[in-house]
Amino acid sequence: MDEVPPGINPHIPSVARMYDYYLGGKDNFASDREAAEQVLALVPETRQAARENRAFMQRAVRFLAGQGITQFVDLGTGLPTQGNVHEVAGKGAHVVYADNDPIVLAHARAILEDADRVSVVEGDLRRPDAILDHPETLKLVDFDRPVAIMLVAILHFIHDADDPQAIIGRLTARMAPGSYLVISHACPTSALSKDITDVYRSSMPGIRLRTRAEVLPFFDGLELVEPGVINVAEWRPEVAGELVALKGLGDYLVGGVARKR
Ligand SMILES: C[S@@+](CC[C@H](N)C(=O)[O-])C[C@H]1O[C@@H](n2cnc3c(N)ncnc32)[C@H](O)[C@@H]1O
Repeated sequence: MDEVPPGINPHIPSVARMYDYYLGGKDNFASDREAAEQVLALVPETRQAARENRAFMQRAVRFLAGQGITQFVDLGTGLPTQGNVHEVAGKGAHVVYADNDPIVLAHARAILEDADRVSVVEGDLRRPDAILDHPETLKLVDFDRPVAIMLVAILHFIHDADDPQAIIGRLTARMAPGSYLVISHACPTSALSKDITDVYRSSMPGIRLRTRAEVLPFFDGLELVEPGVINVAEWRPEVAGELVALKGLGDYLVGGVARKR
């Protein structure tokens, strides 16, 4: 990317732009590529993990659409790439995207063609009510009806000091019965976890890898959909042969979907 949009510091790696680089996108700067290459040198499968994460998100949205969900709030949207939530959810669905990285906002607004049913909100997950009460959100989402709240590859950027459990509690408190929560989360897999955490320390906002056991309580009070919290690659593969295991990585990214009764 040559041009630097206003409000963006291209010299500090951003997790949104690093993720874009893993996925083969062009919306990244030298600092992002350098940090991402350091992670790739430690765990070359990171690109594959990013693709598996996107595929999990898309399968989850298709599953939810099949359950009759027509409202989605996607927190930590990332830079637009292929198969965004509104493209998978179906023509009638309302989708609100939120992210705290100005570069995501600049790009997402440019591609959103259908303002009647899709919107992008600047917001920080650490202040969840501000996102849910944003006028753009309330224009599209009726919280008295079932909604899907998506936390896909974002919670590992929320540190313990910011109390992710309490943030999720704020979100689920607003969900009507029959709503769903979707989470995917990066896990410490090996002796390399400390090195990966060190690379991300140079980025905004750093990373907090959590084990599956640490991720499970994020679904407390909700009913987990089968097969529960599992390697994202193994969550309801749709066609035989689709399941591509993250070779040698174990549970690098786990994910799950749960319903509010
Ligand atoms: C790895 S990307 C995931 C993108 C997309 N959800 C996906 O899974 O393909 C994480 C995104 O979360 C955003 N993010 C990180 N911390 C955030 C916060 N506190 N509030 C809102 N967005 C945040 C980043 O800017 C980035 O766009």
